[in-house]
Amino acid sequence: MTDRAFNFAAGPAILPLTVLEQAQRDLVSLPDVGASPLEVGHRSPWFSAVIEETRSNLRDLLAIPDGYQVVFCQGGASMQFSMVAMNLLRGTGATADYVITGSWGSKAIAEARKEGNTRIAWTGADEGFSRVPGTEELLGSIAEGPAYVHVTSNETIQGVEFPTTPIVPDEVPLVADVSSDFLSRPIDIGRYGLLYAGAQKNAGPAGVTVVIVRDDLLGRIPDGLPSILDYRTYVEHGSRYNTPPVFAIYIVLLVTRWLRDDVGGIDEMHKRNREKADLLYDVLDAAPMFFRGHAQTDARSLMNVTFRLPSEKLEATFLAKAAARGLVELKGHRSLGGIRASIYNAMPREGVEALAAFMREFHERASESGIEERPTRI
Ligand SMILES: Cc1ncc(COP(=O)(O)O)c(C=O)c1O
Repeated sequence: MTDRAFNFAAGPAILPLTVLEQAQRDLVSLPDVGASPLEVGHRSPWFSAVIEETRSNLRDLLAIPDGYQVVFCQGGASMQFSMVAMNLLRGTGATADYVITGSWGSKAIAEARKEGNTRIAWTGADEGFSRVPGTEELLGSIAEGPAYVHVTSNETIQGVEFPTTPIVPDEVPLVADVSSDFLSRPIDIGRYGLLYAGAQKNAGPAGVTVVIVRDDLLGRIPDGLPSILDYRTYVEHGSRYNTPPVFAIYIVLLVTRWLRDDVGGIDEMHKRNREKADLLYDVLDAAPMFFRGHAQTDARSLMNVTFRLPSEKLEATFLAKAAARGLVELKGHRSLGGIRASIYNAMPREGVEALAAFMREFHERASESGIEERPTRI
């Protein structure tokens, strides 16, 4: 296949080519099944094996310890904004602390407010969401005995990522929206109470959300929640209380196999992601008055590289010329403007090299034609 562009979309995002090819081979008829994965029942032996292996591959890849459940929900990460608060905040009388490092954290707390008391423990709003709190700063911001602390490990819109696991007091459940850096780097699951990830960045297509939840938190869930919004329903029914997104989970399975067999695991994936991100950040650092990166250096995302050019006109030219070279979906989120290069797991190094080369060339051409270099505020 040679007609695929390098797709830098933030999500739904690029998938590994071998995964798409496998899905293409299986699409009309799965070997030994005689039907498409779009047609097979969710209680069939084929899907039972799919869901079992997907769970076990995720456990192996992420070294998920005993005492945690892996379940598959629908409704995207956005539904988790509500579900987390319904299950872990509603009726407790306690307050949930939210650490807001960008747009998605702001959306998460807005939903939690409908379920109980919330508090903004820390926010980067005044600094345009350009950094994350340091360890001491974070610890000092957390109230006494919160129901949980919620963080967004990678803010997809701003391109701001926690470089390591945020540290909260041991007894406080740490809840994380890991939608846009799930499976991109090792993660110390044992430090978390609950993690959730919409699949459509690193794990598969839109339609399935992976939730990893610690057993003891299931005991805190109030009775009376709608069954479909109660984590216990997913655990008790093996994520098949109702019809799950069969095809989406099957693609997640193929992605986990790709990560294990083709890439060689999460450590190797992380190494490649670091190298890919460095290729772009090096270009920004070489011309900081032209490419103005949004994130402060120690909070730079390995997944979403966000920056601005000296003018919106130049940004429009950049996007058009990049697209003409097969470098597509580079427009920043509408709330922020500028450029965003999402370089998830499946983006090959060649795609990032092509973008870095294009950026250097674009800068040289602009300098030659006397473009004034002045920083644009993001
Ligand atoms: C970090 C993060 N959280 C939440 C969401 C919302 O996800 P969904 O559209 O699956 O509800 C996104 C989507 O881009 C995201 O990047």
